[in-house]
Amino acid sequence: MEHKREKFSSSLTVFLATLSSAVGLGNIWMFPYITGKNGGAAFIIIYLLCVTLVGLPVLISEFIIGRTTRKNVYGAISRITDKKGFKSIGIIALLATYFLMFFYTVVVGWVYSYVFKSLTGTFNGITLETANSIFYNTSTNIILPILWQFIALLTGGIILVLGVKGGIEKLTKTLMPVLVILLIICAFRSITLPGALEGIKFLINPDFLKVDISVIISALGLAFFKLSVGTGSMITYSSYYTDDNRLINTASKVAIADTVVSLLAGLAIFPAVFSFGMEPSSGPGLLFNTVPLIFSQMPGGKILCIMFFMLTAMAATMAMISLLEVVIVFFTEELKIERKKAIIINILIISILGSFAALSASSEGSLGNKLIFGMSFFNLCDFLVSNIFLPINGLLIILLIGYFVNKKCVCNQLSNNETLNNKKVIGILIFIIKYIAPVLIIIIFLKSFI
Ligand code: PFF
Repeated sequence: MEHKREKFSSSLTVFLATLSSAVGLGNIWMFPYITGKNGGAAFIIIYLLCVTLVGLPVLISEFIIGRTTRKNVYGAISRITDKKGFKSIGIIALLATYFLMFFYTVVVGWVYSYVFKSLTGTFNGITLETANSIFYNTSTNIILPILWQFIALLTGGIILVLGVKGGIEKLTKTLMPVLVILLIICAFRSITLPGALEGIKFLINPDFLKVDISVIISALGLAFFKLSVGTGSMITYSSYYTDDNRLINTASKVAIADTVVSLLAGLAIFPAVFSFGMEPSSGPGLLFNTVPLIFSQMPGGKILCIMFFMLTAMAATMAMISLLEVVIVFFTEELKIERKKAIIINILIISILGSFAALSASSEGSLGNKLIFGMSFFNLCDFLVSNIFLPINGLLIILLIGYFVNKKCVCNQLSNNETLNNKKVIGILIFIIKYIAPVLIIIIFLKSFI
């Protein structure tokens, strides 16, 4: 029996759900720091170029695959091509999704625990030392990180039991606007602090001298991660799109809105970091040590701290849900397992294997010194996803759409069966898909290995 598929109800909910997959930990703890470190506005320009010339074409290609086939990632790829080599896209996408979830859910768990800590007053009057020791305990304890990771997964599972419309659509429609409002409040507070200008400068001052090949490689990696391409999330979500949704338009709006959210996150964090004379450190240190410390010193900081971690938790949860949905529909459609069962099985798989990532995330964690190919399990998952699975899949997807899928089918998807007057845009897009994006991915991929 064919599984009855749901669809999102309007173009607005399509946009919000897609954006909710793109917006996540990447905006709050990766984008601002990478931008500041790699030349501010200069990096943003390169990032936007990577998004336009590579990220967006891959994203739109995924939309075409998803909406044409209306299947889970594995089924979609099998349906759209019978070329053996390209069939691997589905398998790589599933692997990428699992490996990404193993480490992503660890950090989502930490964020949940920080929401709890901010609510229960753990950060009242903290100093640099206590902030460090709170994070040390959060990441190295043998039980708590696994427990919080499980709670995060369970939350995602409960939302997904409600389905595409009742779960994903309802949640993202309500939470995305709340998230943006909370972020604007935090950014406003931060940029009105004395000495905030230095932080704004750190984020946006263009410094082209810092731009080298490694900066371009990080910009491309970030573009893939930010737009959630290569994993199957976007193929899966677009399999629920309405027929009249304008794919190029949705992809562009998502990329722009996602970049705006990242910049807002940067404006919420860096002006405050500089105002309090702190070091703009990287990823985990910035989010989990510096942020509570700053808020504890700021008037009205307690409530802002709660808001900040709540908004981070919301963003991270919605991105996590888009990953979970990939493997759940794979189970229901390909393995014919009922949705609720599929959710339970996947939560168990990810919490069990993910617990190895939870215990190895910190070098002082109980599995932190067990190395595979010279990396902890947590870092290995990150390495495999960011450096291998995502770029390879991005390349295969773009080649598939550029050269191996019927051109008429591609044009029909992009023009909604010729009801849109966008022939020129389609022409340019197909040119980028065929000739520019693949070459750029190959050059950057090879360079990153050399
Ligand atoms: N785009 C998300 C973020 O920036 O946090 C992460 C992500 C979600 C990557 C879903 C890939 C994915 F399929």
